[in-house]
Amino acid sequence: MKKLSDKLSVNNLVLRNRLVMPALTTNAAAEGGLVTDAVLDFYSKRSSAVGLVIVEAAAVRHDGRLVQNSIGLWDDQQLPGMKQLAETIKNKGAAAVVQINHAGARCVPQPGPLAGASPSGFQFRSDVDPLVLNEAQIEELISDFAAAAGRAVAAGFDGVEIHGAHFYLLSQFVSPYTNQREDRYGGDIAGRAAFPLAVVEAVRKQIGPVRAILYRLNAVEQMLGDEVTEDTLAFSRMLATAGVDLLDVSFTGPAVRQELDDGSWQLLTSSALTREGKFGANIDHPATVKKASSLPVIAVGKMADREVVTAALKQDQTDLIAVGRQLIADPEAAEKMLAGKFEEINQCKECFNCFSTMRRGEQMRCVFWD
Ligand SMILES: Cc1cc2nc3c(=O)[nH]c(=O)nc-3n(C[C@H](O)[C@H](O)[C@H](O)COP(=O)(O)O)c2cc1C
Ligand code: SF4
Repeated sequence: MKKLSDKLSVNNLVLRNRLVMPALTTNAAAEGGLVTDAVLDFYSKRSSAVGLVIVEAAAVRHDGRLVQNSIGLWDDQQLPGMKQLAETIKNKGAAAVVQINHAGARCVPQPGPLAGASPSGFQFRSDVDPLVLNEAQIEELISDFAAAAGRAVAAGFDGVEIHGAHFYLLSQFVSPYTNQREDRYGGDIAGRAAFPLAVVEAVRKQIGPVRAILYRLNAVEQMLGDEVTEDTLAFSRMLATAGVDLLDVSFTGPAVRQELDDGSWQLLTSSALTREGKFGANIDHPATVKKASSLPVIAVGKMADREVVTAALKQDQTDLIAVGRQLIADPEAAEKMLAGKFEEINQCKECFNCFSTMRRGEQMRCVFWD
């Protein structure tokens, strides 16, 4: 029977246990996407027990930041800070992977030739005009993802996670909610997946066979339904064939339009379960994707619960367990989980303050830090 403390190897990743810190944007980088002491401190405090740390979304281009102060991997000047970050995590005994992303039309307003990149012009917020990408621009972005992955490895990361979830650029291409293209990058799942799969292949070519590639996908997009679709399962198999080593199985909640006092609006699509969501509410998703793809998977979504963790590992519903907000709220949550002391965790209040600080343009903060 699998346990939280069991080791696992995936490609070059040698994980000391089954706990993962998923990507958690801090909005704490300096101008130019540079790693700061605040970023290093956040990871240093949370890397001493988990098996794997997936560093927050790093933009592959200056115009692909999901928040104003995203860390970046678009420029060699970012390498020294990224090296320090990889070292900080690995010195604590965790494997280190960094998520690479272009926010597409779900970005904060920012200048740049591919700001607001989009498959078909779906608008996520009133202050960002979508830019429908042509084929040359898609090719350019594929190269940007590959170059960013090359920098990640040069900085000492064990691999990369391609961000294909939460309605940032790649998931906008995969989802029929946002992709109505009629060229080879649209239509059926093979067409909608063509751009993300080309990114996987280019990243693999760039970093070689013995570095891990993780892919984060939406198993479910709740604005479209609550079930994992056949398209998603087909996509997970395509990712396996393209060279992905590990699938990070996430989801997107319903789309909620938020009207602001100044007349602007944005469409909020959350990656986190609300208070009403049960612990482990999404555990069927990784189980289904694992069976279809034959790849190891990461489960996420209110997983810091003894019964949920025990059952998920025992029933082989997942290989790895990611704990997001609970690690923000209590940096020692992983130690406590591994020691079986779940009752000692300072329970996340599920207040979404961490998200709303960033929405206001501030550095991410948790109510427990005040
Ligand atoms: C403040 C904050 C920032 C996040 N940033 C990212 C990110 O950069 N990339 C990503 O894929 N998911 C991001 N997420 C989603 C988490 O990785 C995770 O999937 C989500 O919080 C659900 O897990 P939980 O219930 O354990 O919190 C973020 C979540 C929070 C709360
Ligand atoms: S701000 Fe609220 S939701 Fe976010 S981690 Fe802290 S307690 Fe949890």
